[in-house]
Amino acid sequence: MPRTSSAIPVAPRISGFVYAIRNIVAEARKVEAAGRKVRYLNIGDPIIFGFRTPPHMIDAVERAMVDGFNGYAPSVGILAAREAVTAECVQRGMPMTPDRVVITSGTSEGIELALTALAGPGDEVLIPVPTYPLYTAVLAKVGARAVFYRTDPARGWQPDLDHVRSLITPATRALVVIDPNNPTGATYSGEARRALVDLADHHNIPLLADEVYADLAFDGPVGALAALNPEAPVMTFSSLSKAYLAPGWRMGWLAVGATPRLDDVLAGIKKLADGRLCSNAPMEHALVAALTGDRSHQQEFRNALRERAAITHARFNAIDGISCVAPSAAFYAMPRVQLPPGTTDEDYVLALLRATGVLCVYGSGFATAPEDGFFRVVFLASPAELADIYTLIGTFTAEFLAARTH
Ligand SMILES: Cc1ncc(COP(=O)(O)O)c(C=O)c1O
Repeated sequence: MPRTSSAIPVAPRISGFVYAIRNIVAEARKVEAAGRKVRYLNIGDPIIFGFRTPPHMIDAVERAMVDGFNGYAPSVGILAAREAVTAECVQRGMPMTPDRVVITSGTSEGIELALTALAGPGDEVLIPVPTYPLYTAVLAKVGARAVFYRTDPARGWQPDLDHVRSLITPATRALVVIDPNNPTGATYSGEARRALVDLADHHNIPLLADEVYADLAFDGPVGALAALNPEAPVMTFSSLSKAYLAPGWRMGWLAVGATPRLDDVLAGIKKLADGRLCSNAPMEHALVAALTGDRSHQQEFRNALRERAAITHARFNAIDGISCVAPSAAFYAMPRVQLPPGTTDEDYVLALLRATGVLCVYGSGFATAPEDGFFRVVFLASPAELADIYTLIGTFTAEFLAARTH
């Protein structure tokens, strides 16, 4: 064969794997290269905004390394970590045993393991829109179809239960629920939560409960979805990334509900977990320290978030052409700008970045319609910096809308 040096092709699945939260950073780098300071409101990482990992967790990792826990851990995680997760589930109302827990590299790996075990080509998975983009990305990778159910900004971003019901087919393999929610900052009503769990039970569809923000609802921790109906096939996912301020450690867990209906899925997940050997072993020790130790940082964090959410809500609603639902958890808001016809959310967000250096993520990165004008803001910056940022956004938006409307 003649020698060829043409570009090596990538697998077709790569084109379906889109993660706007990080993809958009390439645009920000160009703006920085042109000499403008960029304010990164794209990534939900509390550490880059000055919040600190609790010292007793850092001590636990250090001690684990010094004590020699630097080899592979069991693929499901060390027993002490699985026991700590079990106690956490039970305390949140979800019956659990350590043999149904797998320690993962963040919530992300848990989600990937579960979806890989559950869905393949021809299968459908119900996910909320707006969605956290990992779900669409992983489904593109496993070849299953993401089927979007609405959450409604006019009702505080509550899920549209009739829409969920209407989308269930024999091909539905899982129902994803993100509560509290990224990107909307919503917490779901007790009624909606109960209805979702009962749907999963009735239709025998595994409910994937992404509960990574459960401790960051401003009014205090939210119980486990699984607690509402212990018979229902529910798996829960969480991590140390958000409520324990250690996103870079990539330390999380999944726990598979006690119903025998999920036994094969649990076995499938464990098989997949064997293939990647284990999660980060020293950090598993920190998981024990985190879940069994002092959590006083969480109340401080919630207070800081509540203050920032209030500023965010008030300032966006004071901008002509923008409306914003009040977040009740986490550090995200999803304002909406009334775009002139023919303009997309990406046009708006990129123009904002180039004009002001403020980097948000366009709503279509979370699967909303581009013309709907949603964008996501991470409000972890200090109140003073947020005030500056929202002034920049207000001035820019007035100019943007005036230029495009006339
Ligand atoms: C809803 C949701 N799920 C999962 C993740 C991934 O978190 P982790 O760092 O635990 O992988 C995030 C991170 O932003 C998230 O917002």
